[in-house]
Amino acid sequence: MTVALVPAAGRGERLGSAGPKAMVSLHGLPLVAHAVRGLLAAGCVRHVVVAAPVAHQAEMTAALSAFGPVSVVPGGVDRTASVHLALLAAIEHVPDAGIVLVHDAARAFTPPALVRSVTEAVAAGAQAVVPVLPVTDTVKRVDTDGVVVDTPSRADLRAVQTPQGFAIDVLRRAYEAADSTVLSATDDAGLVERIGVPVHTVPGDVAAMKITTPFDLAVAAAVFAR
Ligand code: CTP
Ligand code: MG
Repeated sequence: MTVALVPAAGRGERLGSAGPKAMVSLHGLPLVAHAVRGLLAAGCVRHVVVAAPVAHQAEMTAALSAFGPVSVVPGGVDRTASVHLALLAAIEHVPDAGIVLVHDAARAFTPPALVRSVTEAVAAGAQAVVPVLPVTDTVKRVDTDGVVVDTPSRADLRAVQTPQGFAIDVLRRAYEAADSTVLSATDDAGLVERIGVPVHTVPGDVAAMKITTPFDLAVAAAVFAR
């Protein structure tokens, strides 16, 4: 059985919205509701645990209760803390879950087919799976003065999306290890890499884009107009 964790407790500083980014409305629904709806539409997710900003927990619960089996828990100070809190709640509420997906509320229009593809790769035996796209820009590493240090070969680089899928025990161990060393990461697979578990990739989808800036929101509004 598969559970999904949705970190949605960020402030959305780069978007510059009045409230939390996950509650920004697009086509009549908050972004977090689009994200949860997409997860449940995949047909393989039994329960969703959303990490909400503490001050917006009741509001998010009200916005999500119509979509199906969803619990809303208070988030933490950073994404890593929010995912860890959601993971502990998922283990408590759905003790027989074997697979866990972690999916950003900000990737509101992720196709259900991508959710299934990640889940199926974990069910087939991979312990950790991330959806990736080839990188189209050349990427450079710079020093603190902004001077280029080197240029990694683009052929070796991938842009990583969510949902990321894991054997639930692997993700639990990764977060326990991160806790004891006060590590934080921008994605969950990064913590799994640190405990030495191989992370596999499946093809991502441009529609799983992350809404970070006002430009991204305008793109999402135009592309996903219904
Ligand atoms: N997130 C979270 N808890 C936090 C910080 C972030 O659950 N303390 C979530 C966000 O809600 C988002 C996802 O992690 O769904 C990815 O983070 P990001 O896109 O950076 O969102 P924000 O942190 O809200 O945006 P910003 O960094 O611009 O403030
Ligand atoms: Mg952030």
